[in-house]
Amino acid sequence: MKKTESVTCDVKSPALGPTLGKGKVEWAESQMPVLRAIRARFEKERPLKGARIAACLHVTSETANLCRTLKAGGAEVFLCASNPLSTQDEVAAALATEYGVPTWAIKGEDKDTYYAHLKTVLAQNPNLTLDDGADLVSILHSEFPKQLPNVYAGMEETTTGVVRLRAMAQEGALKYPVIAVNDAATKHLFDNRYGTGQSTCDGIIRATNLLFAGINVVCAGYGWCGRGFAARARGLGARVIVTEVDPIRALEAAMDGFSVMPMAEAAKLGDVFCTVTGDTSVLRAEHFASMKDGAVLANSGHFNVEIDLPALAKQAKEVRRNVRPLVDQYAMADGRSLYVLAEGRLVNLACADGHPASVMDMSFATQALCAEYAVKHKGKMAAKVHDVPRDVENWIATLKLETMGVRIDTLTDDQKKYLSSWNEGT
Ligand code: ADE
Repeated sequence: MKKTESVTCDVKSPALGPTLGKGKVEWAESQMPVLRAIRARFEKERPLKGARIAACLHVTSETANLCRTLKAGGAEVFLCASNPLSTQDEVAAALATEYGVPTWAIKGEDKDTYYAHLKTVLAQNPNLTLDDGADLVSILHSEFPKQLPNVYAGMEETTTGVVRLRAMAQEGALKYPVIAVNDAATKHLFDNRYGTGQSTCDGIIRATNLLFAGINVVCAGYGWCGRGFAARARGLGARVIVTEVDPIRALEAAMDGFSVMPMAEAAKLGDVFCTVTGDTSVLRAEHFASMKDGAVLANSGHFNVEIDLPALAKQAKEVRRNVRPLVDQYAMADGRSLYVLAEGRLVNLACADGHPASVMDMSFATQALCAEYAVKHKGKMAAKVHDVPRDVENWIATLKLETMGVRIDTLTDDQKKYLSSWNEGT
């Protein structure tokens, strides 16, 4: 562990904080007007005073602004990464040296270091947990059970985390309330769709410099992230094929004008594949066997399980690391090569900067207001998965519209009356 001037932490290079990190954090701040408004209020009202917050999030310039907001509200914030490859080292440094947020995160950290960092954050005895993927909740329950009574609530940022938490709640294993920030409309409708859509294309293109125009891009999964990625890949001129297991989503993809087919067929056609399903082994041995020479494989789902890399390594004759940064070549016995980006981890964060700040503005505004709600309702929320309060969502959407210069109509009294009556028909 290195000790910088202000806080104990483990970051790659504290010197990057003032030189590169601070400017990047301030640039993101300029794109986050809703979070800025919350920070200004928090500075006056200090609604989180005394709360200890453990955060396991992607360590990006947007996350730095969330941490600054929580601190402005009076909380102590302790941060680690929610993925070994997503950390922006200059931002981690700035958090430690410029913003007084103890941070344990290094891009490329191995699995042991990743978990050691997470446990260091949990050892700070938090009252709130902020997760992106439910690792804090899971390890707090299994390895720090004595601390559970000190936790007021948790917040969960992503779809995969909410799925894990609902499974915990179903088994009666969840011992404190968690708010499903991901499920808020102000989060998934924008961040998952526009954020993942754009940043996934950005990650694949930055890593490979491929031209999307005229190639076949296979999008596995048509949830909010898949919808976003498919739309943006099409916008860049690719022919997009969607694979799905859910008949309603598959129907939507077909009516949105995409080719829909099983992966066994898509595998033979794709030039670029991207998994966004949240499930395991979506691309597997039978698919690798029929892919074209030169096919590029990426994942933008939370965990690195969507591409069965152990199976691919077994099938390959040789694996050459880093033919370009974060691009690995798998040379197959029959002479074909397949290329895997970012070791199958989140391509949008590992190979690019993640979602743009203007969309994280809403997601992290939701996080900050849910933290305030959780402190206000300490001891009054049941140990289950909670929805984001509706007024929080409406406030965020209203302010975001205002900052975008978009005005909308309001219902007249007549219209309100009409909507609450049932006896006016044809
Ligand atoms: N998840 C996706 N993009 C992100 C970003 N820019 N910051 C934090 N978490 C993210």
